[in-house]
Amino acid sequence: MAARRPVALITGASSGIGAAFARLFAAKGHDLALAALPDALLPAMADEIAARGRHPPVVVPVDLTLKDSGLRIANEMAAHGVEPAFIVNCAGFGLVGPAAALNRDQQLAMIDLNVRAVADLSLRFIDSLIRHRGGILNVASVSAFVPSPEMAVYHASKTFVLSLSEALHCELAPHGVRVTTMCSGPVATQFQYRAGIRSKLPRLLACSPEFVAARAYDGLMRGKRVVIPGVGNKVLSVILRLIPRFILLPGQVGAMRFAAKPPAQGFPKLSHWTEPGELPP
Ligand SMILES: NC(=O)c1ccc[n+]([C@@H]2O[C@H](COP(=O)([O-])OP(=O)(O)OC[C@H]3O[C@@H](n4cnc5c(N)ncnc54)[C@H](OP(=O)(O)O)[C@@H]3O)[C@@H](O)[C@H]2O)c1
Repeated sequence: MAARRPVALITGASSGIGAAFARLFAAKGHDLALAALPDALLPAMADEIAARGRHPPVVVPVDLTLKDSGLRIANEMAAHGVEPAFIVNCAGFGLVGPAAALNRDQQLAMIDLNVRAVADLSLRFIDSLIRHRGGILNVASVSAFVPSPEMAVYHASKTFVLSLSEALHCELAPHGVRVTTMCSGPVATQFQYRAGIRSKLPRLLACSPEFVAARAYDGLMRGKRVVIPGVGNKVLSVILRLIPRFILLPGQVGAMRFAAKPPAQGFPKLSHWTEPGELPP
């Protein structure tokens, strides 16, 4: 079999943090394969990167909630003669509201995307990651450190990502593969709108997509287990783990109700925000 060209496979590369990862990995000299839902944004991102003189990224339009999405990505990459040296599992969404009231199918789709697809892609390409002494960067959240009523499935999904990734960090280190989990606080992207969060982002915690991507990339290359971008979020992650659950959980209810209103039906496409903390009307 002819040697395949190593690339960084980035999911959710069409917007937000994933788009920042795509630009950063390209700027650092990686060739790319970009995966997200089929729409106009992904080819535009690939064109933008190719226009900077980089090898044109392989574009993989795929719905990662589908069970065969990992196989589709593998087939598409093989057809283009590339294989992952790095994988960035960034695609994901959240929903705010009582779990019993939120749409059950959407919550299960969240598990398919935030959990099953992350596990699939983390495990599927290990041979190739070992060959290239590369790594996996899994995007979790400070939500991973605590359960949260009013955002129950999302927090649980990110706890899974953190737990899986920390274990893989140990298992794969002897094989020369780095596994890093990024646990960011609030980042101004379309995530809040899709989740149903309508309040301004807290100034002390909010970071830009570019900032969190840069911290995570640096941590991955240095072989760090967990990266928490921003001093405020580092402090928050410690506090969250120290507060007894009987105090924390009722507090979370109040915080989420303050931040949210019921999520919009479907996931409307928004133009990208430019101002951190800004929210659409
Ligand atoms: N923003 C925050 O405050 C925050 C904080 C902590 C952690 N995170 C995590 O960061 C990650 C990226 O979120 P973001 O803030 O950048 O949000 P975003 O701007 O909404 O980006 C989400 C990305 O995931 C892709 N995606 C959604 N559903 C998909 C599906 N079924 N199949 C394939 N791709 C799909 C989207 O593609 P389309 O654009 O084509 O729909 C988009 O590229 C998520 O895992 C999120 O949980 C975000």
